[in-house]
Amino acid sequence: MTSPTPSTVLNHIGDTDRPALDGRTLDVHNPATGELTARVPRSSGADVSHAARVAREAFGAWSLTPAPARGELLLRAAALMTERKDAIANVMAREMGKRLEEARGDIQEAIDTAYYAGTEGRRLFGRTAPSELRDKFGMTVRRPIGPVGVITAWNFPVAVPSWKILPALVCGNPVVWKPSELSPESGHLFAKCLWDAGLPPGVLNVVHGQGDEVGAAIVAHADIPVLAFTGSTAVGRQIAEIAGRQLKRVSLELGGKNPVIVLPDADIDLAVDGILWGAFGTAGQRCTATSRLIVVGSVGEVLLPKLVERARALRIGDPLDPTVQVGPLVSARQQERVHAYVETARREGGQVLCGGEILRTGALARGWYYPATVVDKVAPGSTLALEEVFGPVLAVLHARDLDHAIAIANEVQYGLSSSIYTRDVGLAFRAIERIDAGITYVNAPTIGAEAHFPFGGVKATGNGHREGGWAPYEFFTEVKTVYIDYSGALQRAQIDNRVDG
Ligand code: UN1
Repeated sequence: MTSPTPSTVLNHIGDTDRPALDGRTLDVHNPATGELTARVPRSSGADVSHAARVAREAFGAWSLTPAPARGELLLRAAALMTERKDAIANVMAREMGKRLEEARGDIQEAIDTAYYAGTEGRRLFGRTAPSELRDKFGMTVRRPIGPVGVITAWNFPVAVPSWKILPALVCGNPVVWKPSELSPESGHLFAKCLWDAGLPPGVLNVVHGQGDEVGAAIVAHADIPVLAFTGSTAVGRQIAEIAGRQLKRVSLELGGKNPVIVLPDADIDLAVDGILWGAFGTAGQRCTATSRLIVVGSVGEVLLPKLVERARALRIGDPLDPTVQVGPLVSARQQERVHAYVETARREGGQVLCGGEILRTGALARGWYYPATVVDKVAPGSTLALEEVFGPVLAVLHARDLDHAIAIANEVQYGLSSSIYTRDVGLAFRAIERIDAGITYVNAPTIGAEAHFPFGGVKATGNGHREGGWAPYEFFTEVKTVYIDYSGALQRAQIDNRVDG
């Protein structure tokens, strides 16, 4: 495969592409081959201040643009994303290692979000309710808030940013976005669909760079009253603390340790298909990845051999090769981190059934590969049972019955996605009711959330907000309550016109 010349990706502030003010850059490497794919600005707080000022200036006109017109612009951007889907997917696969089919899915999720958000411009519903007084009318309307700071991760370089940016825009807010420094070019190409669709200058500004420089400056900037972040729980806590001092509105989408429970009555082959896709799809680099398999009773005796055989047979390699099933991890650091978790699990008594060693043979030695790994007999309370790995490592835990399985499922600090395989509808509902998670799937893997349903988690996975579907339009607007008294006289609420006098 020929390697294209590295691209130069620039910041975009107002209507201009520009380098960082102090000219620094960062290199982006293809995790499958180590080749340089792009050079991006390593921006500083000064670039963020510039973008925040420009966004603040654009806020007035954008907030007064009728919401249906804002929405139509997103619909035009959706059409451009559809035209450019393959081209963006190619860039994404090269810069962060996602397989092409999955990269196309990532962009499709943004297209779906754009169609939903675009038509939301014709809803953005307020409410009316009867007044307690005569000749008086009460209603609510939704108002934009101001510039929104968006900080996102590399694992969904387009889909996850779209969940934040598109609702923020249709609600009338300008955006200052820091894409991940590991996936800046696919981020740029996504944003370009919006600029090319006719988004006015200053409404979507992109500042590239590192979290501790650009991200920190966005979080602290007084002109950015709203923040939407996807990343680690540790960074999410820091953001919430800093933002809390300024009373900023913050939406956090953080870690997961997502369980699949398999009951003895389950369709075992269906469960194996779902566990493989959930645990090893995107090389396990999803917030929603299946990272714990909780087998109930003796079901493991049938399930685990089948699972391990299929996991061993997964084809690992370059994500641009359509026959490959598992691509590389995003970076050397991530590869070391994943392997360290497996080593710790071994020390803590886990039995590695397959995988568990860094792949260094042939072409795989050039990239950051890690094999599909299944670790059995992971003790509840041990490191691999509790911590998010963000790689193709599945911890197997054993439970006596469903209630024990649910107790294990709930024993972690996170609560994003979850799944149960059973043919018994009663037991499925018991799990739906009791698993502490923002999402529960029945007879389906933990990954695969759809753009028009709320997405997010409980406990340390977030701070109570949901993205996707109808949820974010509340987050990105302030409610104003309006009373119109057409009686021509002073009427006193709680006092006048009471039936009890
Ligand atoms: C993420 O990993 O941050 O449900 C998002 C899924 C995808 C989104 C994952 N639709 O796995």
